[in-house]
Amino acid sequence: MYRQIVVLTGAGISAESGLRTFRDQDGLWEEHKIEDVATPEGYQRDPEMVERFYNERWQQLHDGNVEPNAAHLALARLENEFDGQLLVVTQNIDDLHERAGSRRLLHMHGELTKGRCPRSQQTFLLTDHFSVHHTCTCCIPAQRLRPHVVWFGEMPIGLDRIQHALDTCDLFIAIGTSGTVYPAAGFVDTANHHGAQTVEVNLIEADRHSQFQYHLQGKASEIVPQLVEQILQGQIISDQVNLAAQG
Ligand code: OAD
Repeated sequence: MYRQIVVLTGAGISAESGLRTFRDQDGLWEEHKIEDVATPEGYQRDPEMVERFYNERWQQLHDGNVEPNAAHLALARLENEFDGQLLVVTQNIDDLHERAGSRRLLHMHGELTKGRCPRSQQTFLLTDHFSVHHTCTCCIPAQRLRPHVVWFGEMPIGLDRIQHALDTCDLFIAIGTSGTVYPAAGFVDTANHHGAQTVEVNLIEADRHSQFQYHLQGKASEIVPQLVEQILQGQIISDQVNLAAQG
């Protein structure tokens, strides 16, 4: 039934894999100040503190216990089996979508596993922790790499591609995101404007839940596989998915 789908994911999709979200109880922003660890000014002031913050995230991702969960796997299955076009846009800097097998994927807030040359913007895959002593191989003299992470006040990655996908999609699904950070929080408005069906999957009614035509409340790992099954069977999404999830 659907031809073009855009899925937006946030920290909530990785929560059941053991990664902390930002704004839930015990979220990362309770312990860290955004202006210290997620702004260019914070990095200029204290690069080592920012390095420590992202390296803790990197370490967690590589500690052997963190794996993609059923929601990541279901989205990879959708990409493999869906006849139409799918784009997964993630705000997450972890690599759990890739590990699950997603390829048509855009990391709009960057990637924990890469460093970036501040001059050429070329990215470099990191085989270990990020370090402020890593340098690029694209410039002479070599530049100190910065984390390949979009900080507050910076432009997210791939907005043209995302905009085009939103303009032409017939289904937009937001999974595990609080809807507080723009421009991602406004994607639902664009999708609605272009006549797409809009669906939110979240444990709670998130800030912008009223903008979605369907709000499916529950764990991403339970709801997303059902949602994917429904799409692959050519059914139109309805709140039946929610009812099924609740048992
Ligand atoms: P948030 O921490 O703001 O929101 C996480 C959302 O996931 C909340 O609405 C939770 O209710 C929901 N959630 C938690 N566990 C869930 C589960 N198992 N199933 C379904 N939903 C669940 O994270 P984001 O919205 O991703 O940006 O945050 C957006 C951006 O703010 C991040 O990319 C980051 C942050 O500051 C930058 O650092 C630039």
